Amino acid sequence: MKQTPISSAILMLALAITANADESLPHDQLQDISEKELKFMVSECESCHGSKGVSQNESVPSLAGMSADSILNSVEQFYFYERHCPNANIDSDGPKSGARNMCDVADRLTKQEVLAIGRYFESQSP
Ligand code: HEC
Repeated sequence: MKQTPISSAILMLALAITANADESLPHDQLQDISEKELKFMVSECESCHGSKGVSQNESVPSLAGMSADSILNSVEQFYFYERHCPNANIDSDGPKSGARNMCDVADRLTKQEVLAIGRYFESQSP
């Protein structure tokens, strides 16, 4: 059968549900993330969490020095709504993506992306 946009949407949904079953973000498999992609994603985090993950904003915790595993853990808790997602107190120069809280952020990332981003913040000094 030829794949229609609808049938591929259903397939994506099925994959998303399967991914939820083992309590992890989508795309567990290896994924190549370029330096450029990583830089862009990190800059999104930094627009709230501060340059190199050192926050200047009381409504947002620092990420610098936090282990990649605990970053992944927290992002997964936001993804599964196990953790409340308060909006960051940011003005118009917040992230370009328009994200206002961690649920918005977690919805857009794969596990491999969060681990790569996490390793970046892990290597920054608090
Ligand atoms: C719109 C602003 C915003 C953006 C963008 C953002 N965050 Fe957050 N993040 C927050 C806020 C606000 C909290 C605190 C939530 C709370 O009160 O528990 C938080 C909390 C976290 C925590 C938990 C920290 C802790 O000490 O418990 C992690 C981990 C985290 N963010 C990772 C990220 C990563 C990785 C990115 C980039 C992919 C990112 N965040 C992008 C606003 C943001």
